[in-house]
Amino acid sequence: MERILVIGGARALGAAVARRAAKDGYDVVVGARGLAAADVLAREIGATAVRVDLQDESTLAAAAELLKDGIDHIVMTGSAPHDVRATELDRDKLLAAFTAKVVGPMLVAKHFAPVLRPTGSMVLFSGVVGWRPALGSLVKGVTNGAVEYAARHLAADLAPVRVNAVSPGVVDSGTWDRLGDEKTGLLGKSAAGTFVGRYGETDDVVDTVMWLLGAGFVSGETIHIEGGARHKSA
Ligand SMILES: NC(=O)c1ccc[n+]([C@@H]2O[C@H](COP(=O)([O-])OP(=O)(O)OC[C@H]3O[C@@H](n4cnc5c(N)ncnc54)[C@H](OP(=O)(O)O)[C@@H]3O)[C@@H](O)[C@H]2O)c1
Repeated sequence: MERILVIGGARALGAAVARRAAKDGYDVVVGARGLAAADVLAREIGATAVRVDLQDESTLAAAAELLKDGIDHIVMTGSAPHDVRATELDRDKLLAAFTAKVVGPMLVAKHFAPVLRPTGSMVLFSGVVGWRPALGSLVKGVTNGAVEYAARHLAADLAPVRVNAVSPGVVDSGTWDRLGDEKTGLLGKSAAGTFVGRYGETDDVVDTVMWLLGAGFVSGETIHIEGGARHKSA
């Protein structure tokens, strides 16, 4: 049975990956910065829970030690949005955003390289705004763009372990519920900005992540799951 660690696994897309992986017969470890939330999901799906905070390297070292028997796959969904214009940048929030998306996954590679099985893989999360500059998306855009390079260069560094990224468009993952009534407008606008005329569903992303785990001849790639949104002019 293959073992998978999902970091950011207690909520939204991470939780959906953890749920599907458990259903598909993986030995699932739910990693989250809040152990209680990870534990709730882990109990529900027959997984185990571990505290992993991408902003705290000591938790990465401790998790790798806990899983030193070996691990096949690591999926990381962490993000720390800082959606402001350049003149409003806060240095700490800027660094936290890079840590959640890029530095954290690189440090995961550092600590887990010795325990990742050679046939295994890592999946990082990017996002369509990396390819579509917009006001207020500066940090999200640059960090998501950097994820593509992180996946490519980590693939070279960790080979034969495969490293890939997925780059979703706007997906109704649960994260947009915080917008309340404005969520419908966002989803509608996003749907109109694709070739396929709809916004993303959680399963669009989960299906792709699960495919990547088994795609033994795919490494260093970023897979775009956004209905062609990068290619459609406004
Ligand atoms: N949903 C979309 O429309 C969309 C579009 C493009 C890209 N993406 C990307 O897809 C990924 C997942 O997005 P989502 O929709 O599931 O919602 P999200 O709200 O972006 O989820 C972020 C996840 O990262 C975790 N996280 C944040 N900081 C962390 C840290 N320091 N250590 C460990 N985990 C941390 C959160 O856990 P907590 O429960 O602890 O907060 C949560 O599980 C993100 O990288 C996002 O940028 C999403």
